[in-house]
Amino acid sequence: MNGTTWVELAYLVSAVLFVTGLKRMQSPATARRGNQLAGIAMLVAVAVTLADPIHPTLDFTSILIGIAIGGVLGAVLARTVKMTAMPELVGFFNGMGGAASSALAAAEFVRAAGTGTRLDVVSAGAIALSMVVGAVTFSGSLVAFGKLAGRISGNPITFPAQKVVSALIALVIVAMGVALTLDSTAGLAGLEPTALFWLFTGLALLLGVLLVIPIGGADMPVVISLLNSYSGLAASAAGFVVGNRILILSGALVGAAGLFLTVLMCKAMNRTLANVIFGAFGGDAASGGKSGRDTDPVRTVDEEGAALLLAYASRVVIVPGYGLAVAQAQHDLKKVTDQLVQRGVDVRYAIHPVAGRMPGHMNVLLAEADVPYDVLYDLDEINDDFGQTDVVLVVGANDVVNPEARNPQSVIAGMPILDVDRAKNVIVMKRSLSPGFAGIANPLFHLEHTYMLFGDAANSMRTLSREVGEV
Ligand code: TAP
Repeated sequence: MNGTTWVELAYLVSAVLFVTGLKRMQSPATARRGNQLAGIAMLVAVAVTLADPIHPTLDFTSILIGIAIGGVLGAVLARTVKMTAMPELVGFFNGMGGAASSALAAAEFVRAAGTGTRLDVVSAGAIALSMVVGAVTFSGSLVAFGKLAGRISGNPITFPAQKVVSALIALVIVAMGVALTLDSTAGLAGLEPTALFWLFTGLALLLGVLLVIPIGGADMPVVISLLNSYSGLAASAAGFVVGNRILILSGALVGAAGLFLTVLMCKAMNRTLANVIFGAFGGDAASGGKSGRDTDPVRTVDEEGAALLLAYASRVVIVPGYGLAVAQAQHDLKKVTDQLVQRGVDVRYAIHPVAGRMPGHMNVLLAEADVPYDVLYDLDEINDDFGQTDVVLVVGANDVVNPEARNPQSVIAGMPILDVDRAKNVIVMKRSLSPGFAGIANPLFHLEHTYMLFGDAANSMRTLSREVGEV
């Protein structure tokens, strides 16, 4: 077997592992293994690329230093980041992926410019694409990170004629990209090729900022997943720049997976992608749209009353939300569920696709507490059953159970919700009547058959578990 054959074979193994790993992400039961397989695929791809005889003069010292710095940072972040801060971490990682692709494109362009070499059209086109998509991803992701981490306003930031300005900048970027692709040594409108390239880069960075600042509120998860897709496209283009097949393939996989996730999340929120990108939905949601009902009276219940309702029910559905993650009450929730199941109560969990702050957030949280996957039901599977449910226990969820979504005037109009208000009794565990992520009041709290159990979900759940044990 010659040098190229074993490299190609190893890349094939890596590609198969990537695809198998992705496939296993489809179910929480196999996702952990899928992640490990994808990790092994990446290790194989990197090792084989470094060992490939076509690069005889690699500087292994700086590569190892880079791997050590990145590895230590990654390990520390993975161990210390809070589950609730995962979306901004993912946003940051996307940005770093974009930056890496841009840096690679810049290095190749500067190298060719240094020797006065005219790049062939395919290489120059790949460099231009990798640079522009990578730069948009980098700056856009940093803005998304800032918004999610609360460093800049999470609401849409808009100014007059914003869309026109963004469109004009995009047009100029395209013109510059075409000029660089057709002749990388020619420049444009009196600009030297290198100056043209850096201006092109600067405008792409500006475009990334302009594309993300007008998005906010509940649309941020969609943006993060779209930027994830962009980072894959940038990596794929970078693969063409350096002629590395596994980079082209893995980038394309990330691009496609990110795009699928984006479409699924748009569906879950009943929004079109164009609406998310151009609609500035979060602003309306965050600033207006209050139904004004949060001062209306509510019924309250204490843990003892809630325990009685739950223990004497036949069918119970639990709806977890972001507050469960904040309170880290999943282990005590599991205890309560086990006690109810022992009493013969039929207990199921209803999982809304955007409950929490990242895709699959509730699944991960409940898996931590060893809740079996077969009692978790998606929105479509369980929504028709609420009418026959005796008690719904809503734990730290708000937007995903807000009946305002059925009001055509509401800013969350049309967002699919879990129809918990159709159950016979609803217990809502949260600390106050404060709104959720979308910033609007929730009429569910004021219904006749809704009982508010105020308090931190961790404390309430511990007490509830004791009380259920005493019924
Ligand atoms: P939210 O609507 O954000 O409501 C969470 C509720 O939890 C809050 O109203 C809060 O009320 C309560 N809470 C917070 N800490 C608590 C604690 N320690 N104990 C008890 N309750 C606590 O959550 P949701 O229903 O899960 O909906 C998710 C929202 O986030 C949607 O609008 C979605 O679009 C958005 N979003 C989703 C994602 C993804 S991909 N899942 C990503 C970003 C944003 P109190 O303050 O009164 O306790």
